[in-house]
Amino acid sequence: MTGPLDGRRVVITGSNTGVGRATAEALAAMGARVVLACRSAERAADVMRVIGPERAELVELDLGSLASVRAAAAQIASEPGDELINNAAVAGARGQTEDGFELAFGVNHLGHFALTRLLLDALSEDGRVVHLGSGSHEGVRSLELDAVHGLTRSRLAIAEYATSKLCQMLFHAELSARFEGTARRSVAADPGDVASDAYRNMPCVLRQLWTWRMKPPTEGARPSLFCVTSPDAENGGLYDADGPREPSALARDAELAAELWRCSDAWSGLASPSSRAHAEERSAGRV
Ligand SMILES: NC(=O)c1ccc[n+]([C@@H]2O[C@H](COP(=O)([O-])OP(=O)(O)OC[C@H]3O[C@@H](n4cnc5c(N)ncnc54)[C@H](OP(=O)(O)O)[C@@H]3O)[C@@H](O)[C@H]2O)c1
Repeated sequence: MTGPLDGRRVVITGSNTGVGRATAEALAAMGARVVLACRSAERAADVMRVIGPERAELVELDLGSLASVRAAAAQIASEPGDELINNAAVAGARGQTEDGFELAFGVNHLGHFALTRLLLDALSEDGRVVHLGSGSHEGVRSLELDAVHGLTRSRLAIAEYATSKLCQMLFHAELSARFEGTARRSVAADPGDVASDAYRNMPCVLRQLWTWRMKPPTEGARPSLFCVTSPDAENGGLYDADGPREPSALARDAELAAELWRCSDAWSGLASPSSRAHAEERSAGRV
């Protein structure tokens, strides 16, 4: 079989279910080799079987553990890659990551930040990084960088999810600025309201009521597929099912994006000693 993506190697986090799985299956059908970066080999077994070993490989990745992110990145980077889709997310769950970060921030933003930074050298010259956004980021009025450590504070973890999505948009803003003048692109996709496992923490009946009018994951995957395949998907752009969209003003704040990058670099152990000292000062409330 040949297709428009023949030979391209695309890494997709959280591709055992929902939008990620639909994206992986569609890309494999277009000829790509997909790397399913999932936290459970058991839960990824079905999508592995459906796509088949000639088009799919599995890498175990728990974004809530920076040690797991480093191990997965080393495994993935042993071969050059073309595209990375930061799709996985935790929503509506409370807790903290293995490294002591608030759960949604640690998984959705910091885990993806570290994975992306570690894979940049292996990304092809015209490679793309796609970030899964959400309209929820528009409701966040300010970013408290000192509140990203420790347990989730709100009862339903909705505020923390929205904050993590804002952080992903800020990361996208800074990455796209760094890609300027190259053939690489950082692109963001908003799938819209999708009836997926994202609502797994809701009681069954409420979940059915909540999701019955939502689109299926195959439709929710369309913005991601556009971002990864279309020549019209621009570096720095955000796209939903209707086309290009503006992120919130806060998500376009270049100074905040640069500050989040510096802190994330330090918190994920990737920074120089001086940036690490800056982030430690910040965490201690001294700057
Ligand atoms: N559904 C919506 O209405 C909606 C709306 C706007 C944006 N989005 C965004 O779209 C993307 C896909 O969401 P979805 O609706 O397809 O959600 P989903 O069905 O819940 O899938 C989420 C995926 O993320 C994985 N994941 C969660 N925690 C992880 C961790 N610590 N390490 C590695 N993988 C982890 C899950 O793995 P397990 O199965 O092992 O838990 C699963 O594969 C997300 O970024 C989400 O924020 C969704």
